[in-house]
Amino acid sequence: MAFITNAWYVACWAAQVKPGEMFHRTLLNQQVVFYRKQNGEAVALQDRCPHRFIPLHLGNLRGDRIECGYHGLQFDCSGKCVKNPHGDGKIPAAAKVRSYPVNEKHGMLWIWMGEGVGDPTQIPDYSVLEPESGYRTSTGGYIHINANYELMAENLLDLSHITYLHDGLLGSPEQVGADQEVKEEGGHIICNRWMPNVSVPGIFDMLYKRDGRHVDMWTNMRWIPPSSFILDSGVHAPGGQRENKGWYFGVHILTPETERTTHYHFAAALPSGTAMTTEEAARYAELRRFAFEEQDKPMLDAQQAALGEANFWDMKPVLLTVDAGPVRMRRALERMLVAERQGTATTG
Ligand code: FES
Ligand SMILES: [Fe+2]
Repeated sequence: MAFITNAWYVACWAAQVKPGEMFHRTLLNQQVVFYRKQNGEAVALQDRCPHRFIPLHLGNLRGDRIECGYHGLQFDCSGKCVKNPHGDGKIPAAAKVRSYPVNEKHGMLWIWMGEGVGDPTQIPDYSVLEPESGYRTSTGGYIHINANYELMAENLLDLSHITYLHDGLLGSPEQVGADQEVKEEGGHIICNRWMPNVSVPGIFDMLYKRDGRHVDMWTNMRWIPPSSFILDSGVHAPGGQRENKGWYFGVHILTPETERTTHYHFAAALPSGTAMTTEEAARYAELRRFAFEEQDKPMLDAQQAALGEANFWDMKPVLLTVDAGPVRMRRALERMLVAERQGTATTG
């Protein structure tokens, strides 16, 4: 299975690449090492020395360069070998590593692993995470998922699972009867679920009136290809209107690591009327982490283990009404992949 490469992916939270240190990760089956130049700018290089294929992150930073830890070749931030300490010091033409365009935006480090340099204006808009947006943000999290990113993307796009997997926390039993709407907007797929007069799930009660009374609830999820999501989800009194509390934007971003593993970054932005003490905010963040890491992740890991190497469609999955969004997303991804192979991709 191939990945769409002509797209911006989240490599990590920007703060994970610390001055004077190297950070490494496999992204789209490629090993990448990150570091910061002395002026603070982030750099991403192929994490494999062309001499004897040692990961460069096992070496040392020398100013703006990386020195391989095995025989000392030095590479600059463009990936060019600029020093060979051996013999006459001549630098073989093949002594270079790939350098990837990176862009720091909304607290994340985005990487372009496709052709050309990528257009930074194509990076999805997560400005709700910026301090000046007026939203209160909840700690950015990270989970390693042992499943293909499309399985995880289906989990995010089809939130009918909250009734079962997150019962009491993010979902409640009556929500299974939600009114569902799936639509496309400028290449994005939007899955909206509207659940009038349902019992209030714990996290939303905490954000709203804390009285345990019934609410109207919505989960409006937007998929931004290939693997970024933004959720608008919340509650208000039955028959009421959205208030300045009781809802949030959920940021969910996936980056394929390998065919069977995925990097999952998440965060949330809450409206200014959300009244929470520091302890309550920590509790809110912890409950979300619990839902994703201890409820979603085991399900996804088990799902991938059950599928093994099999192709998803070859398994002839049963299709339900709730699959409308996920199936459209899978088809859109297939079209993007074909377009990229034919050199007609337009993303970025
Ligand atoms: S393996 Fe890197 S210099 Fe030899
Ligand atoms: Fe979930």
